[in-house]
Amino acid sequence: MGKYIINGGKKLYGTVDIQGSKNSAVAILIATLVTDGDTVISNLPDITDVDNCLKILSYYGCAVKRESRVCVKINTDNIRNRTLPCNLIKKIRASNYLIGALLSRFGACELPESGGCNFGSRPVDLHIGAMTALGASVKGGGKFLECRSGLIANNIVFPFKTVGGTVNAIIAAVKARGTTVIENAAREPHIKDLSLFLNSCGAEIYGAGSDRIVIYGKNKLTGSLHTIDYDMIEAGTYMIYGLVTDGKIYCRNAPIGEMQSFFSSLKNYGANITVCNDSVKTEGRHMRGCDVKTAAFPGFPTDLQPLITVLAGISEGHSNITEKIFSNRFGYVRELEKAGLRYNIDGDTLKVSGVTGYSPSIMEATDLRGGAALIGAALNARGRSEILNAEYIQRGYSEIVRKLAGLGADIEFQP
Ligand code: EPU
Repeated sequence: MGKYIINGGKKLYGTVDIQGSKNSAVAILIATLVTDGDTVISNLPDITDVDNCLKILSYYGCAVKRESRVCVKINTDNIRNRTLPCNLIKKIRASNYLIGALLSRFGACELPESGGCNFGSRPVDLHIGAMTALGASVKGGGKFLECRSGLIANNIVFPFKTVGGTVNAIIAAVKARGTTVIENAAREPHIKDLSLFLNSCGAEIYGAGSDRIVIYGKNKLTGSLHTIDYDMIEAGTYMIYGLVTDGKIYCRNAPIGEMQSFFSSLKNYGANITVCNDSVKTEGRHMRGCDVKTAAFPGFPTDLQPLITVLAGISEGHSNITEKIFSNRFGYVRELEKAGLRYNIDGDTLKVSGVTGYSPSIMEATDLRGGAALIGAALNARGRSEILNAEYIQRGYSEIVRKLAGLGADIEFQP
């Protein structure tokens, strides 16, 4: 496992180019399995989760040609169903999307034991419920789903919001016979991006981005050209890096419309946020603690919860950070404690008392966004810090060393 070495305490200044969205990319790449012919996807983030998705597509027989680090051409003409590639699927959460894709394409799939970050229990009961609503049956003591005569459209009502469940339901329903209605659908930007992609392939999906999605099933989808939307979580991460170093950062191509609840919270902390053309500028002076509660989109994103904690840790006064999406997403705070974070955990709320700054330390990333938060603390701390397990961070942040160095950080990667 590699590590980042950071000599912190330097103010970050300048412009950073925001990558394509990780969560759009992984959903869209797996969704190519229900299309025929050639698809070209551009603005792909250059991250290991994308590499692993592409390996999964190759395993199923897709011809995958990287035109560049951010553009790939995929041909699905020779795909075939195979046993799951266990080593690959354990690396990414998005391997769950194979359920919808393989059921739609082949009428059968094994249930993957997908990977991704460990935030306590991450069941797939709602994904399976959506598939059974579309006519699939659970077989082999819960190991397989089958629908040999093809999926049939139906109403799918999620009891609560699930991003992955909504993605899977869309992928399965685009070629199901008839009209599917998904109620209480997740509204995250990547649901919209996935639907845009599938519609460009000939699907008919209406209402993506709202609570109710209507899908008219089609017999066949062709390949298409699609440009991935920009990544609001990466943009939010760099905005926090600017604030914790008392710098001034422009995030070029940040998806501003999608980030309003995050902007409001940052403003409550005292950040000055200005939208200028295609960039958002973030500056902070005197940051003061306040409360944040995560929620499904358009609420405050759970993926930025660890990042806002880093800011809370050096803001004057107290902040309550409440996590409403995952049962255990505070694993990273034990590592931040090494850098001086003062906190206690009360149920789903992290109570943070601000200190004047972090201390250099050796911290171990235990998940993707938690790892990005540790980088924030190291950028603030005056002196040499090490962030171990860099591989977690490489799952979702492209070229983080080059981007941070471009903003004036002293950072290197050691394999
Ligand atoms: N849940 C169930 N049953 C299910 C599905 C979900 O109980 O069948 C629960 C989960 O345990 C969780 C809640 O529902 O408590 C919401 O989970 P959701 O399904 O919305 O999350 P996900 O699809 O597993 C995606 C992102 C995550 C992001 C969450 C929430 C991808 C590949 N992953 O996960 O992204 O945190 O939505 O926005 O899109 C990240 O990028 O770092 C990341 C973890």
